[in-house]
Amino acid sequence: MTGAGAVAEARIRIDDRLDGSASDDLAVEVRDGLTKSPLKELPPKLFYDAYGSDLFEQITQLPEYYPTRCERSILNRRAPEIVAASGAEELIELGSGSASKTRALLFAMAGADALRRYVPVDVSAAPVERCAEELCETYPGLEVHGLIGDFQHDLVHLPGGERRLFAFLGGTIGNFFPVDRVEFLADLRELMGPGDRLLLGTDLVKDVRVLEAAYDDSAGVTAEFNRNVLRVINRELGAGFRIDRFDHRAFYDERESWIEMRLRSLDDVVVPVPGAGIEVPLEAGEEIRTEISTKFTAARVEHELGEAGLRLKRFWTDDAGMFGLSLSAPAG
Ligand code: SAH
Ligand code: TRP
Repeated sequence: MTGAGAVAEARIRIDDRLDGSASDDLAVEVRDGLTKSPLKELPPKLFYDAYGSDLFEQITQLPEYYPTRCERSILNRRAPEIVAASGAEELIELGSGSASKTRALLFAMAGADALRRYVPVDVSAAPVERCAEELCETYPGLEVHGLIGDFQHDLVHLPGGERRLFAFLGGTIGNFFPVDRVEFLADLRELMGPGDRLLLGTDLVKDVRVLEAAYDDSAGVTAEFNRNVLRVINRELGAGFRIDRFDHRAFYDERESWIEMRLRSLDDVVVPVPGAGIEVPLEAGEEIRTEISTKFTAARVEHELGEAGLRLKRFWTDDAGMFGLSLSAPAG
């Protein structure tokens, strides 16, 4: 380690909430999902082991995957405005990943002399550790307090503070089912003090062809990412999925206003998943749902925030109106 690295190290703290109980939780979630009828399901956070996080990083650079580019353009242009409007001195980022878009916010906070602490929260440890080191070296005096955990269960372990900006970017909120989304936002609202703000990235409704291409790219990276769920289950639960015998599917469900990702079994099989204590029968052509990605309108974002006790203060989009970024505050 270099001298600069050692100095930065002193300002990094990473708490791991996934130690211990994680594999039990995984077994239960996988068992629940794979015994559902008529449609089997798998929990999306399984995508993100170290390999999956790298694949997602590749997805963000695909020509078809517009959300990252669009959200980045909003952040790059609006960061100073966001920072001024939020009055924040601390950034807490949920599902931070590599935090590549977040740098615009941190830069603007540093410019406003308002950057005390950055708190990345993610189930995937590798990108959090990597960005903690990078950021500490870029910003002398910045404290990074990472939390490896599940943003649906572990937010109670966040360090306390005032004037915190909670960032939840990438449209990840759209990966929740509607009931979970309401609950998540309400829990978050509960955690927020009067001086805290929420910066929420939401992908917007648009042409179906554009939507579907973003989740089924021509280079096949998204397909590889989707199948990674099976690889993780094989490794973690000793399962016997033959990964090359599943096709990637992505389609837009107009009625639900979401993209749905599935894996279709090419064979009639019974797959042992010993770690979850089950054997999973699949018919040829049967599909497993792995993820939804909800597409919003500005009105729907405002309405759902309102239902959770959050008042919309600002709403920005990129020039083409593809992606939305909202700033909200606890209501009265
Ligand atoms: N914020 C980044 C990454 C989005 S991808 C961006 O906008 O590009 C979703 C991120 O959320 C991944 O880094 C993934 O590891 C993380 N994630 C997924 N489910 C999670 C969960 N339940 N708890 C915490 N992090 C989760
Ligand atoms: N949060 C991202 C999104 O909804 C996650 C994502 C992008 C994803 N591409 C994917 C999830 C492909 C599963 C499969 O856009």
